[in-house]
Amino acid sequence: EQKLNFVKELLSWFRENKRDLPWRKNKNPYHIWISEIMLQQTRVDTVIPYFENFIDKFPTIEALANAPEEDVLKAWEGLGYYSRARNLHSAVKEVKASYGSVVPDNPKDISSLKGVGPYTAGAVLSIAYDKPEPAVDGNVMRVLSRYFLIEEDITKVSTRTAMEKIIREIIPSDAASDFNQGLMELGALVCTPKSPKCTTCPVMEHCDARLQGKEEALPIKKKA
Ligand code: ADE
Repeated sequence: EQKLNFVKELLSWFRENKRDLPWRKNKNPYHIWISEIMLQQTRVDTVIPYFENFIDKFPTIEALANAPEEDVLKAWEGLGYYSRARNLHSAVKEVKASYGSVVPDNPKDISSLKGVGPYTAGAVLSIAYDKPEPAVDGNVMRVLSRYFLIEEDITKVSTRTAMEKIIREIIPSDAASDFNQGLMELGALVCTPKSPKCTTCPVMEHCDARLQGKEEALPIKKKA
């Protein structure tokens, strides 16, 4: 009941309230991949112009694979964490060489690519291919730790694994993309780290942290 309500309310909230972001214009797996790599250490507002410029310069897997590394780094300039750009470039060359320039649509192959960890793999598989795979980032851990009152340290691998298990249990097989994006969006817009906007939250009624007044105390993060 708590889980079923969460899925239903989250999906309808996301469909009504999602931001109009440039990587939401279509489901091009290559474009989704770039956005997820950029968004990992950089804020949405900063990413938007870089994403648009990058897609203009390198619109396809082939275009990026064939570009000199220098040009790729140039387009990344200002975003920081340049290993992201180098890994992406190398992974895209691998997609051209081994997968016919098609981003793999299964966990094993996509996870073998440089710079593609469990979060990126799940994000691309769910958002672009609608595969029911978890994509657990900091926003998602915050939402789940509050709603299900998970008082384990979120820096522990076992906590992330437990959250992935919950998602596998509830992610709708016909709406994986909207479900995962809804989790991210709720964490970004409503279930914020400080002063969460519980009064406008679509799942407030069954949120265990809220019911116990613990929302601001979660998630628990022990490592520095
Ligand atoms: N943060 C990480 N992935 C995101 C996405 N697809 N949309 C908005 N924010 C995000």
